[in-house]
Amino acid sequence: MVKEVTCSAPVNIAVVKYWGKRDNELILPTNSSLSVTLDQDDLRSTTTARLIDSEGADQLWLNGAQVEITPGSRLARCLDELRQLRAQSEATSPKDVKDAQLPESRRALVIASENNFPTAAGLASSASGFAALAFTVAQLFELQMSPERLSRIARQGSGSACRSLLGGFVAWDMGTAADGGDSGARMVAPQAHWPDLEAMICVVSDSKKGTSSTGGMAATVATSALLQHRIKDVVPARMAAMEEAIASRDFEKFSALTIADSNQFHAVCLDTTPPIFYLNDVSRAIIAVVEELNRSSRALGQGTLATYTFDAGPNAVIYAPRANMKTIVSTILNFFPLADPFNDPKGYLADKTGDLSPPS
Ligand code: ADP
Ligand code: DP6
Ligand code: CO
Repeated sequence: MVKEVTCSAPVNIAVVKYWGKRDNELILPTNSSLSVTLDQDDLRSTTTARLIDSEGADQLWLNGAQVEITPGSRLARCLDELRQLRAQSEATSPKDVKDAQLPESRRALVIASENNFPTAAGLASSASGFAALAFTVAQLFELQMSPERLSRIARQGSGSACRSLLGGFVAWDMGTAADGGDSGARMVAPQAHWPDLEAMICVVSDSKKGTSSTGGMAATVATSALLQHRIKDVVPARMAAMEEAIASRDFEKFSALTIADSNQFHAVCLDTTPPIFYLNDVSRAIIAVVEELNRSSRALGQGTLATYTFDAGPNAVIYAPRANMKTIVSTILNFFPLADPFNDPKGYLADKTGDLSPPS
């Protein structure tokens, strides 16, 4: 009998960036990080996992193209761990194994996943992708485990994926245990704690980046002295300050920390040998526009309007209180007109009267 499950997971965009591994196999980071998980109906990976009737090699299809599952790869390790957990539950509860039927833990998996946004372009597709994969296969195998436990399995697919198993504001505590048992996600605050905070995604380029996150951070760890300063002297205090900013919904503080962290992350990339350039001219122009918006808003005594952050790619994520989004969207569109003005899923664009209004 064919058994199949489909689930989705959202992306998360870090405001204190993970960049560097101290253990490449288990994916243990050189610093803690903190992110905001976006809504499930925005950027997401949707994954279907099917158990077929026979033994054999697992298969993965990503956005319609088959991806090879190399034995010992991160993907294979995630699937192996989930399969072992299933085998344990079959051993302790043999009724799960129907007569004359191959136990599920021995049947081959066929997995198909689709991202509804650009893959490998610096919009955290590995985060939503591996979170969706781990969650879907755990559902298929009917494994009972906490999101935190599942997050440690997803972490071994892609580090940032561990944060997408939880919603709202999520820390990834780096942990100290050699086996990674204490390196996983922790919810700092649920989304409902700060519902007024919105994210705007500016897709500057949907091309696959030239340097993957995995390759880029390995080069940084091997060559950057600035990374050592960041890990030791900057991130621990910044994590604590960011948690305070979120706890008190202090957008001024949240914004200053987010901008400083994005810029230091890109400085660390530049400090890598050979240097890694994830931002392009349009990314830098977006930074200039947001900085200028904030400068003029502050000059009027109205405080910071928006904050920006860039992952390992040229695409911007702008966080702002909902009331500021109308101004931000119209300003960004003024400088960077949309190729497709009808692509307006959030309803922020001009209606027939030319009035910009956020959705009610
Ligand atoms: P990004 O900035 O998009 O996270 P990465 O370089 O970190 O880019 O990772 C991209 C890789 O993540 C892809 O090449 C693929 O191996 C993996 N990935 C992306 N989406 C999925 C998915 N839906 N399911 C499984 N793996 C995925
Ligand atoms: C810049 O999680 O994609 O987005 O663990 O090697 O798969 P791997 O890397 P990945 O790195 C994400 C880096 C980042 C910052 C972040 O999400 O914290
Ligand atoms: Co990634």
